[in-house]
Amino acid sequence: MRFGYFDNDNREYVITRPDTPAPWTNYLGTEKFATVISNHAGGYSFYNSPEYNRVTKFRPNFTFDRPGHYVYLRDDDSGDYWSISWQPVAKSLDEAEYVVRHGLSYSKFECDYDRIKAEKTLFVPKGEDLQIWDVRIRNNDDRPRRISAFSYVEFSFSHIASDNQNHQMSLYSSGTSYEDGVIEYDLYYNTDEYEGWYYLASSFDPDSYDGSRDNFLGAYRDESNPLAVEQGQCSNTAKTCYNQCGSLHKAFELQPGEEVRFVLVLGLGKGKGQEKRAKYQDFANVDAAFADIKSHWDDRLSRFQVSSPHSELDAMTNIWTLYQAETCVVWSRFASFIEVGGRTGLGYRDTAQDAMAVPHTNAPMTRKRIVDLLRGQVQAGYGLHLFDPDWFDPEKEDVAPSKSPTVVPTPSDDDKIHGIEDTCSDDALWLVPTICRYVQETGDTAFFDEVITYADGGEGTVYEHMTRVLDFSAKYIGQSGICLGLRADWNDCLNLGGGESALVSFLHLWACEAFVEAAQHLGRLDDADTYQAMADRVKDACETQLWDGDWYLRGITKHGDKVGTHTQDEGKVHLESNTWAVISGAASQERAVKAMDSVDTWLASDYGLHLNAPSFATPNDDIGFVTRVYQGVKENGAIFSHPNPWAWVAEAKLGRGDRAMKFIDGLLPANYNDLADKRVAEPYSYCQFVMGRDHEDFGRANHPWLTGSAGWAYVATTNYIYGVRPGFNGLTVDPCIPPEWDGFSVRREWRDAVYQIEVKNPNHVSKGVIRIELNGEVINGEIPVQPAGSENNVVVTLG
Ligand code: GLC
Repeated sequence: MRFGYFDNDNREYVITRPDTPAPWTNYLGTEKFATVISNHAGGYSFYNSPEYNRVTKFRPNFTFDRPGHYVYLRDDDSGDYWSISWQPVAKSLDEAEYVVRHGLSYSKFECDYDRIKAEKTLFVPKGEDLQIWDVRIRNNDDRPRRISAFSYVEFSFSHIASDNQNHQMSLYSSGTSYEDGVIEYDLYYNTDEYEGWYYLASSFDPDSYDGSRDNFLGAYRDESNPLAVEQGQCSNTAKTCYNQCGSLHKAFELQPGEEVRFVLVLGLGKGKGQEKRAKYQDFANVDAAFADIKSHWDDRLSRFQVSSPHSELDAMTNIWTLYQAETCVVWSRFASFIEVGGRTGLGYRDTAQDAMAVPHTNAPMTRKRIVDLLRGQVQAGYGLHLFDPDWFDPEKEDVAPSKSPTVVPTPSDDDKIHGIEDTCSDDALWLVPTICRYVQETGDTAFFDEVITYADGGEGTVYEHMTRVLDFSAKYIGQSGICLGLRADWNDCLNLGGGESALVSFLHLWACEAFVEAAQHLGRLDDADTYQAMADRVKDACETQLWDGDWYLRGITKHGDKVGTHTQDEGKVHLESNTWAVISGAASQERAVKAMDSVDTWLASDYGLHLNAPSFATPNDDIGFVTRVYQGVKENGAIFSHPNPWAWVAEAKLGRGDRAMKFIDGLLPANYNDLADKRVAEPYSYCQFVMGRDHEDFGRANHPWLTGSAGWAYVATTNYIYGVRPGFNGLTVDPCIPPEWDGFSVRREWRDAVYQIEVKNPNHVSKGVIRIELNGEVINGEIPVQPAGSENNVVVTLG
């Protein structure tokens, strides 16, 4: 069953049936003010941190995604009312038509009911800490109509998200006031005149208003039948205490064919409401702000655009996967309908991987994230698994984004810095290749010598930080010479402790190789030799200790038992170790082929690759929590999305384009547009995992948006399937595609020059470049960096 379609020309996903199997969400905001919003206009806004600066309330885990950012309409003659989004009033779909266009950083809600056509576009202008609701109502009737519009948001009890669950103080600690079209909200304990002051302003002069949620909704009612809307009039109440809301009401009389436009502004800052109201009463400013958002994404997306025979993959790569990857880099894992602001900060490994995906579109943010992570590294070399980057930012005096020390206590150094027992063995390894990719993208070689502090004191260059990561993994090895598992590796639920992790040794090898290339580029040949020797030792340990005959082990427990071996009935074959054996270059060609064939045999399904199989059914604390997770769910035998693209990379390295595409097609969200009732989640977003074959909901996707799947899917397709990879000195084009493809083309911007790349496949192979032409001349190997501002034609022939 389908609920909408991809409108690639407008870069929108258009939902034509509002009763989607779950709320399908979008992200508004490219800087500090952000909103997670569903196709029902349910969701919440926050400033900088969904935990500490929550602007509007949200009640997670209810069957409704409420409250939200709503506009109600009311026929003032008949008393009938509805909302521009299907929810919360939910008119029958037989009599009302609703369309939602989720675009890049905006969502547009359209409603056609009783000959009144209405639309509401929500977006956050660049450079502003506010959200605009651009509303139009048109009378398509042949008689004049009297229509009232009511806006509605429910303000957060305090700017701390969790206070919304604590009524004792929260009920009595905030209030609203009203003046000239602006409802202002404040907290009595506020010490900051910006954060923690919210407002809702209207471009019209309201006929009535409500700052009191309880008055607006009425007792024993909810957002579907607010008393104020039913009565056609707000209570004109603004006061301290209880639940606060923002509702501004205006009655319009519309002649046949007449359209009215108005704007609501939801923003931050004491006294800012009037200023912003005046600004956006001039709709030219609204239009300019919206155009600015459009061009923001036009610019980013233009850095890599592909046109291939696979239109669904193109739509995902060109638009949605990059958009999702950027969202992850900015909002980490803590603002969605799953995680609703209960935590703040950065997960070390997640951020290190996310940042790898977007250096070409968001170099400043990539750099910021790398610096954040380097500051979160301790001198011993490991990364702090979860931390708030503000803790270690010398420019931040305060700990939390909130300036209220009474509300957000400063953690002690002991609380900030964990020891080896809480260290995840993979965390910092991801960062080494990410740093290299950032420099390869930007050419900013000087970054390696920038001095950055360690979390526990002292400082070192970026380059030195990298050596400490590698040295840490070289030191913490077990009896077999394989890296210790510690608290966990990439798999949070594989808790090998003093046991050994195959994945981490493969990652260590990969990180060493990336570092060696950087050291060579910098002419630091002694270091290159030292770390090449480390890489050789790691590779040797992997090849002597981890091969199981048909695939690679996943690890060794502290008691010396193998994890992921043919003699076991549970957890026999694992995706992470086999893919990384190939990506890292540890596996010989023969073993690499066998290992990936085993992945296909044991782990493949129509919905993508399972993380492990058969799933664990017997608890075993030597292996970890994974053995206690329900079968077919998350890390225990689900189709965990994030490592799926590792298999695409591995197959691309082996030159098996058909196999790579089979794996891609299994997971690709867009392929499920017509099976949305089965997949449940939105077809434009990778999800954290899809239920595996051992669960009755096999095929159902869970946790959209904030998952490392997006970044890796993007890296795997752009760098390994289309094969366009920047290096320190040149651009490599080395694709791996299904042999039936005649070719494809890519537009890539790199270091301020444009490369129009045409790949031809006359002999119908998967991989193997036989000729490269740059601006009409045949070249060998990499495409050298071309002058800034130049447009270059590249023709690559496979054969
Ligand atoms: C979640 C975590 C990520 C972890 C993965 C596997 O996605 O965010 O850090 O690697 O689960 O456990």
